[in-house]
Amino acid sequence: MATTRPPRAADAHAIADVVRHLGRGGIAVVPTETVYGLAADAASPEAVARVFRAKGRPAANPLIVHVTGQEMAALYAEIPPLAARLMTRFWPGPLTLVLPKRADAPLADAVTAGLATVALRAPDHPVMQAVIAGLGRGVAAPSANVSGRLSPTRAEHVHALDVPLVLDAGPCRLGVESSVLKVDRGRLLLLRPGSLDSATLAEAAGVAVEAPGNAAAAPEAPGMAFRHYAPRLPLDLDVTEPAPGRFLLGFGAIEGDFNLSPAGDVTEAAATLFDALHRAEASGKARIGVAPIPDRGVGAAIRDRLARAAAAAGGTP
Ligand code: TXA
Ligand code: MG
Repeated sequence: MATTRPPRAADAHAIADVVRHLGRGGIAVVPTETVYGLAADAASPEAVARVFRAKGRPAANPLIVHVTGQEMAALYAEIPPLAARLMTRFWPGPLTLVLPKRADAPLADAVTAGLATVALRAPDHPVMQAVIAGLGRGVAAPSANVSGRLSPTRAEHVHALDVPLVLDAGPCRLGVESSVLKVDRGRLLLLRPGSLDSATLAEAAGVAVEAPGNAAAAPEAPGMAFRHYAPRLPLDLDVTEPAPGRFLLGFGAIEGDFNLSPAGDVTEAAATLFDALHRAEASGKARIGVAPIPDRGVGAAIRDRLARAAAAAGGTP
């Protein structure tokens, strides 16, 4: 069983403790604007190994390195003009850029799982920003869930991990993970749909955003090949009617047992999605149903997470 430590309010004192702990090769849970992350010093092989172990994460699935901004990013990756433009526009924020790794990047090898690229993100959360600045170098942080399970958007969702320090800053503002975008010689490949939708990214970049098909993406986005976002219960999509024994996540006019957004707003639904799935898991019901979610804006990322959850948990995708 995991050792359950009560989360600590993310005040200056607790943040300083986390920085000290990370500096000694420890791991800690830190909030970001997307989901809670399991943080480690990206330069420390021991610390990074602890992250993989705590999550039960396959070694072939690389981690995102969190930086304060573009200047720190330049220590780790080559930054072509197209990437610089995206950083200027969207950082700090929910955009992860996959870029050619610098040969002299001060990173533990396991962070990039043997790839020639590195994933970088400057998070828009004062607590994670303070942790990175305090450590003075990149912070490797995957979502703070057991590999394959629901992502945590509140400190109390982290209970399944054995981590000595959990910082609590309340619910995450955005609620789905960052968009993962590979910048490859002037092309943009969306490896994971996320908080920023591809139309917004393409417009800012002035370049089309390609969404590699699953087969093509497998070597590109290692994480997408693994079982993901699975609740402990089977999950059915596009459900419009209540049924006994099924916890229904509503949307808009479909009320359900918990409405993701009574107003039918996909941004609000993204912010409540994982908390709602955690509630459904704890409801004692046998299945989960989810009302239809429109494909617009962050709706594409919500639909991606739900389809993966349905497939992984044996529901009807
Ligand atoms: O919002 C987020 O991105 C959160 C917060 C904590 O920042 N982090 C997060 O990390 O979702 P994680 O590890 O759960 O997902 C990272 C994704 C995985 O699908 C991984 O395979 C992919 O990014 N990734 C990391 N490095 C990569 C690389 N060099 N090339 C391709 N994909 C990469
Ligand atoms: Mg994850």
